[in-house]
Amino acid sequence: MGLNVAVLANLKRNAPRYDGPADAWDDLDSDVTVDALIAALQAGGHRAAFLEGNLSLVEALPRLKPDICFNICEGHWGDSRESHVPALLEMLRLPYTGSGVLTLALTLDKPMTKRVLAFHGLPTPAFQVFERADEPLDDDLRFPLFVKPSREGTGMGVSGQSIVRDERALREQLAAQLARYQQPILVERFIRGREVTVGVIGNLPPPVARRMPDDETARRVLGGLRFLPPLEVDFRAYPETEGGVYTNRMKTEWAHDFRYLCPAPLAAEQVAQLDRLTAAVFRVTGCRDVARVDFRLDADDGDRPYILEVNPLPGLYPGLSDLVLEAAAAGIDHAGLINAILDAARRRCGL
Ligand SMILES: Nc1ncnc2c1ncn2[C@@H]1O[C@H](COP(=O)(O)OP(=O)(O)O)[C@@H](O)[C@H]1O
Ligand SMILES: [Mg+2]
Repeated sequence: MGLNVAVLANLKRNAPRYDGPADAWDDLDSDVTVDALIAALQAGGHRAAFLEGNLSLVEALPRLKPDICFNICEGHWGDSRESHVPALLEMLRLPYTGSGVLTLALTLDKPMTKRVLAFHGLPTPAFQVFERADEPLDDDLRFPLFVKPSREGTGMGVSGQSIVRDERALREQLAAQLARYQQPILVERFIRGREVTVGVIGNLPPPVARRMPDDETARRVLGGLRFLPPLEVDFRAYPETEGGVYTNRMKTEWAHDFRYLCPAPLAAEQVAQLDRLTAAVFRVTGCRDVARVDFRLDADDGDRPYILEVNPLPGLYPGLSDLVLEAAAAGIDHAGLINAILDAARRRCGL
């Protein structure tokens, strides 16, 4: 039976006035995405209406009385902005698609997420967080290093200059990013090599402890999750100024001409290893229904995979977003992807 679905998003055109950096709202969504979500849900036999994800929801949702919310809100303000709308939905006792409050707050914070991954022995580049540009560099970090904001997405703050090869470049990047983004800056070991991202839809069968399983139960951890074919960013197609990293420029200005390989040309064992790591990240960070995990394969260490970050709100722009391209490579069109996410949430919530 069809559901009454509220599509909740933060549209770029509704963004609050703000005199911060020009890329401040790069992660917000467009009408194209929202219209495609509505069309997809209708094609799936549901009713769907868009509501802007701000405080107006407190009145608009009780009026609309949705059975479930399809949430892609990135939020506007604060250290945990992606978790604000889900928190509100829980207060209104409304079910929603995707990850919950804790996971969205955690994964927006890259260093916090890395601490959780490291605790579970999952491979993520060695790192240090800077609140001042002149803090001493840890002895165990060696150049080249990579500098990026702790709590942004869509490659904000990521350019060819994020790769720093000496002390002076490091201090310059730190000063520039601290001033621009007004938040702690993450410095990681630079992983030279290929870049792949793995999308996943579904849920792990309960009970899902936020810990890594023993080897004997590893198979169960994959049950319920559908892995999409890995997508590789084709850096050969981009100018050298981008430094072989997936920059803000590539994700915004040049997004309409995204160059990628999907499925990425990888051996079956490599794909299986990436799927296992994706499942582990999904599990220990408590993801639900959908996620995308970004990896770099260390060219200096036999393509050993390193987890860069987990995206529990992956972009859903039709024909362009990584997850959408991965779904297409698996024969799932945009409407199929959106309904698969809804169905995962629906089963999880017993609707
Ligand atoms: N430690 C690293 N080594 C090499 N490249 C990196 C590293 N961290 C980030 N990058 C590059 O920067 C891009 C954006 O970083 P990521 O952590 O995925 O943030 P975002 O939320 O902006 O996607 C990555 O896709 C990758 O190309
Ligand atoms: Mg990323």
